[in-house]
Amino acid sequence: MPIPSTEELWRIALDIMTIKTYNEDDVAKLRVAGKLAADVLVMIEPYVKSGITTLELDDIMLKYIEEEQQAVSACLGYNGYPKATCISVNEVVCHGIPGAQKLHNGDIVNIDVTVIKDGYYGDTSKMFIVGETTPRNRKLCECAQHALYAALKKIRPGIPLSVVGDTIQPIADKEGFSIVRDYCGHGIGTEFHENPSVLHYKNTENSRITLKKGMVFTIEPMINAGTWRCKVNKKNGWTVTTADKQPSAQWEHTLTVTDDGCEIFTLRPEETIERVLHNC
Ligand code: MF3
Ligand code: CO
Ligand code: CO
Repeated sequence: MPIPSTEELWRIALDIMTIKTYNEDDVAKLRVAGKLAADVLVMIEPYVKSGITTLELDDIMLKYIEEEQQAVSACLGYNGYPKATCISVNEVVCHGIPGAQKLHNGDIVNIDVTVIKDGYYGDTSKMFIVGETTPRNRKLCECAQHALYAALKKIRPGIPLSVVGDTIQPIADKEGFSIVRDYCGHGIGTEFHENPSVLHYKNTENSRITLKKGMVFTIEPMINAGTWRCKVNKKNGWTVTTADKQPSAQWEHTLTVTDDGCEIFTLRPEETIERVLHNC
């Protein structure tokens, strides 16, 4: 490894020094925000059917967030993002902009929702399968969810954040799938994207960060059927697709590190893992 420059060392130090920890009062508010984000995914489920457009889905979710939840979409207007949610179909990895595209039987669809309530953020996403899809698509979706759950089951204070990438890498490798490297999980709380960056592949960067009680971040692995390489749509500057047009799947939760594990703020009732995990 080359000797890092002074600038590089400062960047590393600052990245670590600026990781926040949140107290019990913050956690109470993050719990509320996380539950609201999860509720949006539960609410939209019956609408995710063949024939509906992604714009129609986005409209339903925005109305629900604003009118039923009295909350705010964190995406709308974020760095100029034009819609309330991200809806990423098949080869779209993330940041799919809702529009006139209709869903079809066999599509695999990620819906990513981030809400702000009382100044606190909740960020979560899941895969929906439209009708019947191929066994390979199903396996891809299951692999990404299993990767997220396996990482969540490892989170506890005192260990390096690189446990996330260490856990997910062999799970993707085993199926011959790849892990997106250009996008990652992130600290979150009173801002959308805070330090640290949470890498989903095996890496040394995250081994410098030791998990501490009160840290709040997302884990959101994007798993590709083919290459991990991605392309950003040049016209809209947002939509990320796989370089080889093969499908991609992603699941995301927001969590906090507790005394002996983690608490998942965005868990839905349908899920098979516990909301509070005792991992040591
Ligand atoms: N929710 C995404 C994430 O998990 C970010 C979307 S940013 C947007 O980090 F502007 F595209 F909405
Ligand atoms: Co996120
Ligand atoms: Co998200």
